Amino acid sequence: MSINGPDTPHSPGPSLWPIGFAIGIACLLLGLVISWVIAAIGAVLAIVFGILWALDVTRDVRGHVPAITPETRAAAAQAEAEVEAPEEPLPAYTRSRFLEASLIGLSAGMGAVLTLPVLGFMVLPSFTNIDEDEVDLGPLDNFPEGEYVIATYLSKPEQGEVSRRTAFVRNNGSSEAGEPSFTILYSRCVHLGCPVQPNGPIDEDAIKKIKNVELRPVLAQSFGCPCHGGQYNAEGNRTAGPPVRSLDRYSFSIRNGKLILGELYAVGNVSGTGANATIAKYPWSVPGTHVDGLESWLYPIVPSQVTG
Ligand code: FES
Repeated sequence: MSINGPDTPHSPGPSLWPIGFAIGIACLLLGLVISWVIAAIGAVLAIVFGILWALDVTRDVRGHVPAITPETRAAAAQAEAEVEAPEEPLPAYTRSRFLEASLIGLSAGMGAVLTLPVLGFMVLPSFTNIDEDEVDLGPLDNFPEGEYVIATYLSKPEQGEVSRRTAFVRNNGSSEAGEPSFTILYSRCVHLGCPVQPNGPIDEDAIKKIKNVELRPVLAQSFGCPCHGGQYNAEGNRTAGPPVRSLDRYSFSIRNGKLILGELYAVGNVSGTGANATIAKYPWSVPGTHVDGLESWLYPIVPSQVTG
């Protein structure tokens, strides 16, 4: 038996839209960390369910708007002239409405608190141009075409000189496609990790310092490792000794006329030279590991390690 009379409106049942909205926000936040696709799906879910939720909550307020015709307008005017309608009490603001509005506000606030810092970290590098982990080697003028420059930098400035790393940078001019080309070799020997040295004199009078970066022009057409006699040519290919692959290389980018070091990668072999070289690239691996050929199948899988 119902306690409601025939004219008493039923309370609306619980809505599922808030749950969909919450799932959308969760997907959005998760996607910001792991995948743009998931973030986009989450954003769509949050928008769709948010709109449905808002429509549901405001349904009674919006109500039904009758069509206005000349007859209804005249009847309304006449009724208004004859009778002054009694002032109707404002609809009560029910507890369920208050709770729904509070939940919406709370969800929006939590979403903002969780999302804004993530967005800040993602968007800020676009304005500063340089990621924290990137190394800015300065203007391209620092690198004369066809010559190697020894670039040393602090991979972790907060750790000081112990984190200083060395790269051999050669400006190759432009590729056939008109793109700037640089050969950037990592100095760590790919036999057991000793520091490789350029086989040629360093121009000590032309040393440049930019923040934590030092640049030393060097006349070198090959590189040698003092530990076990490993030798590499100007492209980083092994020419003698025990190293098992070519010298590792850095990817690079050019931003605002400056050379920016990118990720390290391993190299199997380089054919050709400079801008016209064909480089067999592989994910970076520790020294002593073959990255191509039959030997690469005989080595155990090496867990990923920090390269800096
Ligand atoms: S570590 Fe370089 S040759 Fe052995």
